[in-house]
Amino acid sequence: MIKYVFTLVFTVCISFMYAQKFEDLAQTPPMGWNSWNKFNCNVSEQLIKETADAMVSSGMKAVGYQYIVIDDCWQIERDPNGKIVADPERFPSGIKALVDYVHGKGLKFGIYSCAGTKTCQERPGSHGKELMDAKTYADWGVDYLKYDWCFTDGIEPISAYTTMSEAIREAGRPMVFSICEWGLSKPWTWAATVGHLWRTTYDIRDWYDGEIEGNFLGWSIILDKQVGLERYSGPGHWNDPDMLEVGNGRQTNTEYQAHFSFWALLNAPLIAGNDLRNMDARTIEILTNKEVIAVNQDRLGKQGYKIFDSGDTEVWCKNLYNGDYCIILFNRASSSQQVAVQWEMIAPELATSSYMVRDLWKHKNLGYFKYGFNAEIPSHGAKMIRLTTMDKMKLNLTP
Ligand code: GLA
Repeated sequence: MIKYVFTLVFTVCISFMYAQKFEDLAQTPPMGWNSWNKFNCNVSEQLIKETADAMVSSGMKAVGYQYIVIDDCWQIERDPNGKIVADPERFPSGIKALVDYVHGKGLKFGIYSCAGTKTCQERPGSHGKELMDAKTYADWGVDYLKYDWCFTDGIEPISAYTTMSEAIREAGRPMVFSICEWGLSKPWTWAATVGHLWRTTYDIRDWYDGEIEGNFLGWSIILDKQVGLERYSGPGHWNDPDMLEVGNGRQTNTEYQAHFSFWALLNAPLIAGNDLRNMDARTIEILTNKEVIAVNQDRLGKQGYKIFDSGDTEVWCKNLYNGDYCIILFNRASSSQQVAVQWEMIAPELATSSYMVRDLWKHKNLGYFKYGFNAEIPSHGAKMIRLTTMDKMKLNLTP
């Protein structure tokens, strides 16, 4: 008995010591998986459990993915007290048991609701029930809330998201708060203290480009819309260009590799949106590239930005904590193109520098280059390189 009490007190003390505050969460962009892009409303406890298993067995957990997020359609109604009820057919053991399962794998659990009266799939929304819902999620052990923007006529976004943000804090369990308002009210200008990430556009689709009525966008169109937003993002508050489509089957591996490269460079939350239970080797290789993930998770937290654009070809840059630069050479044309970066595009004073160039997809040092670097890039392809000065290579300060 004494041993039991001691263990309990010890565990509680340790939990308090390590309890993270709302403000301290998401110091690097969150990494995880979300059900929506692949499964839409077809969610169930079996899918979530198998996905948690696969996140571990595929090696994704080992490289930093941690949140398993159920999107829309897990909820079905409210009980007579107003408490939200999970679909009992799809989640027969209840959400609490599912959260425990996910936690048991060493992962974290995320859930979805909406600031409106209904969710986008017309399930009960949280409007007017924010505190009750936040407390329910906290009781269940939820670690992450994605909060959508359907059925919000007459509702003001800053106050709606602030209400839920305060409800989460009052509920007392630290939860990453993902604002999904599609960029309509420019959340980058107001959301840094309200949530940890905010969507910048309408929904991604599994396309390289293309756009349907502005509501569904290919990733290269979303990329264009990120230009200028880089100054709003940083540790604890990230621009969210929407979840990944890598592995969902409608793009080439060249396009998926470019999509993942850019999401890493943009400090986007790396939230996989494919079926983790059935991934081919190439999909796993893309999603688990440690050198690319290190660029995304770099502790400086400075988002990448465009430094050259010829129409067909582009060069993007991201400053890294140890003084290195990450560069993407991108080709939007329908045939392969030479794409060049001159170091002076990064900053005029770097014009005559020499850098070791490392290819982050080939995991190879390509040698020292003075003035710049160029390469043949396939159609819709992106080469991602890391630049390190000679001094640092000698000191062996590179990762
Ligand atoms: C909106 C969001 C999507 C997804 C769906 C669910 O469209 O932007 O990411 O959550 O709702 O209905």
